[in-house]
Amino acid sequence: MGNESSTMVDEATPPTTLKRRDLESVAKYILEKDTRKIVVLTGAGISTSAGIPDFRSPDTGLYSNLAHLELPDPEAVFNITFFRDNPVPFYTLAKELYPGRYRPTIAHSFISLLHKKGRLLKLFTQNIDCLEREAGLPGELIIDAHGSFASQHCIDCKSLYPDELMKQAIAKGEVPHCVTPQCNGLVKPDIVFFGEALPEAFFLNRELPAEADLCIVMGTSLTVQPFASLPSFCRDETPRLLINMEQVGGLGSRTDDVLLLGDCDEGVRKLAQALGWLEELEALWEETNPNKEDRDQETAPKKTRDERLHDEVERLTADVDRALHVSNTHQDHLQNYLAKHVAKKADTAKQADSAEGTVVSALDKDNVQGETKTPAEKEEKILRPNATGGLDHVFPHLADKKPRPP
Ligand code: OAD
Repeated sequence: MGNESSTMVDEATPPTTLKRRDLESVAKYILEKDTRKIVVLTGAGISTSAGIPDFRSPDTGLYSNLAHLELPDPEAVFNITFFRDNPVPFYTLAKELYPGRYRPTIAHSFISLLHKKGRLLKLFTQNIDCLEREAGLPGELIIDAHGSFASQHCIDCKSLYPDELMKQAIAKGEVPHCVTPQCNGLVKPDIVFFGEALPEAFFLNRELPAEADLCIVMGTSLTVQPFASLPSFCRDETPRLLINMEQVGGLGSRTDDVLLLGDCDEGVRKLAQALGWLEELEALWEETNPNKEDRDQETAPKKTRDERLHDEVERLTADVDRALHVSNTHQDHLQNYLAKHVAKKADTAKQADSAEGTVVSALDKDNVQGETKTPAEKEEKILRPNATGGLDHVFPHLADKKPRPP
């Protein structure tokens, strides 16, 4: 296992499991055979429409756009030996790639839909953007083959480094150092660099493709081992579907390989359509729309004065807590104080407004200043790759690109 033939299957050779080597036959196979052990393998190509570049696409890929970091070679940015000498290029990039700024694509939602329908055995991803979790896929179904930004450790003494300090360091573009006394080693997110071992979970689950009744490969060049060998673990008669811009790895060399060459988002829409799931897929993807909250609020029943007061206290407490890092005990005192303070403020406003004949909550006045954001403003912050502080300077070619419309 692990060495896939690169010779394409002869068109005249009939498939073993599928009726034909096309998408409709894959959809039929899923429904008629009631496949419940689908293994999905993904790479950076499923996140490009979210605004995150892949690595190797000519011109638009990350590795073509790192000249300003003055690296000996582009992959050095993820090389552990280079990182020990010079962690600055990685942290320059980490600021741009850190999760939380991007919306999952419909390809991520499709994987989530497979799970909701009880058909997903496992997702193996090489991505570190955590978008499959944001699309609703539970962590236990995901093998983060190349790690993730979810935690970080000192590369010398291996102590865990606090999340909050990491967030601050990334936001400031600073290189974090170990907080263990006398250590001061470099801290690195637990993403796998070249020269490092993959997580144990990868090796424990590596042979799962052999149990799969279908394997879907999306958005990866299948150039990095050992991930690239996963499709070869599938049994010979197991259908393998590649949804990718280009033909990669040995996909296409077996009798039940189906190649859907093109954009992943379009590909999953076509497959969902053939399965009769398109409407459900679009609805699931809509759940990830950051503007959805605004629309929900427009249709939600209006909150009572007490409910809004309570929300205001919680919001203020959270703001102050974030700013001051107060302890839990202090937080109780603070919450009481704020409750009284806001109630008093609301009373004063009520009296003033009654005097004018209109009841306008003091909370509305406050919210107008602090909280309200138009959908466009929210989108700017979460989605746009070329927003201020976004990817422009790293990926100037993306500067004019807008995120794809939902
Ligand atoms: P690559 O950049 O190597 O490959 C991305 C693949 O997705 C290419 O085949 C593209 O043609 C395809 N692609 C891009 N956009 C697409 C779209 N919208 N629809 C369909 N296909 C699209 O990325 P990976 O294979 O993920 O490792 O790279 C593997 C590893 O190499 C990464 O995890 C990273 C990198 O070095 C480490 O950093 C350790």
